Amino acid sequence: RASHARQATSHPGTPAETARAPRLTILYGSQTGNAKRLAEQLAARGEAAGLPVRLVRADAYPARELARETHLLIVISTQGEGEPPDDARGFVEFVLGKRAPRLAQLHYAVLGLGDSSYPQFCAIGGQLDARLAELGASRFAPLGEADVDIEQVAVPWSANALAQAREALGKVSSPSATHGATVHALPTRSTHSREHPFAATVLANQRIVSRDSERAVHHLELSLEGAGLRYAPGDAIGIWPTNPPALVEQWLQALRLDGAREVTHEGRTLPLGHWLGRERELTRLTRAFVAAHAAASGHADLMRVLRKEHAASFADLLASHQPIDLLRRHRAAWRADDLVAALRPLTPRLYSIASSPRAVGEDEVHLTVARVDYEAFGAAHVGAASAFLSSIEEDATVPVFIEANDRFRLPADDSRDIIMIGPGTGVAPFRAFVQDRRETGARGRNWLFFGNRHFTRDFLYQVEWQEALKSGALHRLDLAFSRDGAHKVYVQDRLREQGRGLYAWLEGGAHLYVCGDANHMAKDVHAALVDIAVAHGGHSPDAARAWLADLLTQGRYARDVY
Ligand code: 2AM
Repeated sequence: RASHARQATSHPGTPAETARAPRLTILYGSQTGNAKRLAEQLAARGEAAGLPVRLVRADAYPARELARETHLLIVISTQGEGEPPDDARGFVEFVLGKRAPRLAQLHYAVLGLGDSSYPQFCAIGGQLDARLAELGASRFAPLGEADVDIEQVAVPWSANALAQAREALGKVSSPSATHGATVHALPTRSTHSREHPFAATVLANQRIVSRDSERAVHHLELSLEGAGLRYAPGDAIGIWPTNPPALVEQWLQALRLDGAREVTHEGRTLPLGHWLGRERELTRLTRAFVAAHAAASGHADLMRVLRKEHAASFADLLASHQPIDLLRRHRAAWRADDLVAALRPLTPRLYSIASSPRAVGEDEVHLTVARVDYEAFGAAHVGAASAFLSSIEEDATVPVFIEANDRFRLPADDSRDIIMIGPGTGVAPFRAFVQDRRETGARGRNWLFFGNRHFTRDFLYQVEWQEALKSGALHRLDLAFSRDGAHKVYVQDRLREQGRGLYAWLEGGAHLYVCGDANHMAKDVHAALVDIAVAHGGHSPDAARAWLADLLTQGRYARDVY
């Protein structure tokens, strides 16, 4: 049963398209959700401007439609070493491949996302952009290449691309035709969505690591009663956090500004303290803010690091500093309204859901939250959302919405085995999977690889896993505690040790899932899987990589990484 909320973000492709009225197709390929979010924003803005829009995830796009497509915007990220996101593998292969058709009828623009600390920065976006031109299509707008401070490039690119699309489509579609032609770009939303979150009541908030654990992890249970929101294992819950009041205080002190002072921005007047607490990102540094603060403080060092030739130091600065560190280090006389304008709007955070509605009831949702808190430059720092969630009281409410993740689903055929790799809080969706398979009496076997720092302190949901093993809901459990011994042991080490069995499960049709850190863990796990296919499948390294790429394309190897 598909819920409204799930439809709102799953964007099924429309199969038999009667391509009479021209419309704008916005296609995205997204690994961690940024490209998807930008594509959704583009679609919403395009619709608001009266354009007939279709929003579609790359793997739901029938490639043969490309030959009939007239207006196309692509938003696509590039992973680490120049790989496409998992949901766009098929599309990218098709477009770059020999069988792609001539596309003289097509107008397009590509927004690439990437991380400039990798040599293959935005490679996939760039390759698509060049290839479409080669196939005879013409560009609406030049290739956009957005770095980790995405909005810097994405905002102007989107405004321009939409203006160009309007120009092109405006000539052919009257406002009345527009509605008829709209192909469920954003199907009827549930009353609650990202923009209209539901106030979920906190039923429970428990620390689930021991007192002496270095990293606090909390298990939260929220009530969705009355929301009409439905979810499935694999989905995420979106949370709109409030910035920690103590952090807002620190900002006001560092800037010598008064939180009660009213500030008008984009037609809204609110006290500065409210802007900072609820409307603006305070814990993430952006290029725009560094530039504005460099100008406001007149600090030469800060100016210098913005220059192209210092890209590496700039990436370091972004990764290691919060805005408050710059405010403290380089004093500047900020005006309250300039400050609100220079900071980017607060965005919701996504947490993989840790429960199955079959096990806990449709009106309840569980999540697993690792509290980000660390010392830097002689001061305590926290992450906005994890600080908010880990300290929230029972009976308080949290603004939430459901973010569907159709690429991270249990096999439809319940006799398939599943292999789950989820170190740290990456284990969350696997708690949902195991609960769900227990409730449905799925016939396939379940194998979990979990890792964390210390066995005695950080074994998340230990009692539940042990019970699941006993009851037969979990068939195998392999553990990697990285800081208990003289040498680090990670989940990928356990994968290699269990390579023979693991390969046999995969050969038998098992589905493989990875959840957690995208930058290091997911890559290292992938490398281990390649080695396993070489060692136990007799593949060459290239054939092993191709075999895994094929599993990814099929969706039999799914990653929920961030
Ligand atoms: P560490 O912090 O001791 O290095 C959850 O965070 C677990 O993932 C921890 O045990 C952490 O170990 C481990 N981890 C860190 N880097 C990893 C990587 N590249 N691959 C797999 N696990 C990793």
